[in-house]
Amino acid sequence: MIYIFLGAPGTGKGTISSYLVDNNGFKHISTGNIFREIISSKSDLGIKLKGILDAGQLVNDELTFEVLKEGLKKYNLKEDKIILDGFPRTINQANLLEEFFEKENLKIEKVINFVLDEEIIVERLSGRLICPICSKTYHKFLNKPKREWFCDDDNSELVERADDAKDKIVERLKNYENQTKPLINFYGDRKILFNLNANRTIEEISEELVK
Ligand code: AP5
Ligand code: MG
Repeated sequence: MIYIFLGAPGTGKGTISSYLVDNNGFKHISTGNIFREIISSKSDLGIKLKGILDAGQLVNDELTFEVLKEGLKKYNLKEDKIILDGFPRTINQANLLEEFFEKENLKIEKVINFVLDEEIIVERLSGRLICPICSKTYHKFLNKPKREWFCDDDNSELVERADDAKDKIVERLKNYENQTKPLINFYGDRKILFNLNANRTIEEISEELVK
C-alpha cells in the first residue's frame, strides 16, 4: 500500500514517517534524504545537488523521478506499506508517478496533506537538528534527543541543515506555494486526499494516521 506525505517544509513529514517506521511497520522513502546521501558522497552529481538544495530550490523532475524509482526497488510495492515523503512535489512529478503506477498496476492508497501555520513551520525549521547517518530528525526545544546534540539511535553528532537558514526557509515556502500546493487540488479531485492537522504531538498525529 502506498501513501504520499504532502505538505510544506517543516510540517513533520519526516518525523511522523520515522515514528511509523519504528512503531508500525511502515517503509519510508524521502527524496530529500536520498539527495542528502548523494551530496555526502561528494561526487560530481553530489556537488551539483548541494548547490540546488542549499539554495532551497527544487531538483528537476526527471532526475528526481529516477532517484525515486531507484529507491523504490528495495521494497515490495504490492505488499509493503510504503510512505513517499516529499514526492511528488510538482504536477509533472504527479503525472509521471501516475503513469508509472498504471503500468505496474499499483494505486495510491491515500495522500496525507500536513496542514500547519507558517509561524509554527518557521519555529520548527529554525530549531531542527538531523542525524547525518540515519537522517532521524530532532528539534532543539520541541523534540529533543535524549543526549543533547547526539542521535538516540546511533549516537552520531547531530547537525543543522544548510537550507534551514531563515532566507532559505522563505525561498522553500515560496516554492511550495507555487509548485507543490497545486497538488492538493490534483489529489482532491481524485478523492484520495486526507487533510491532517499537524499541530499536535508526534504520538497524536501518528495514532490518527494508523487509525
Ligand atoms: P526535504 O528533505 O523533503 O525537505 P522539505 O520538503 O523542505 O521538508 P522538510 O524535511 O524540511 O520538512 P518535514 O515535513 O520532513 O519536517 P520534519 O519532520 O523534519 O527536501 C529537501 C530538498 O530536496 C528540497 O528543498 C529540494 O531541493 C529537494 N527535493 C526533495 N524532494 C524533491 C522533489 N520531489 N522534487 C524536487 N526536489 C526535491 O520536522 C521539522 C522539525 O519539526 C523537526 O525539528 C522536528 O523535530 C519538529 N517536529 C516535527 N513534528 C513535530 C511535532 N508534531 N511537534 C513538535 N515538533 C515537531
Ligand atoms: Mg523531511
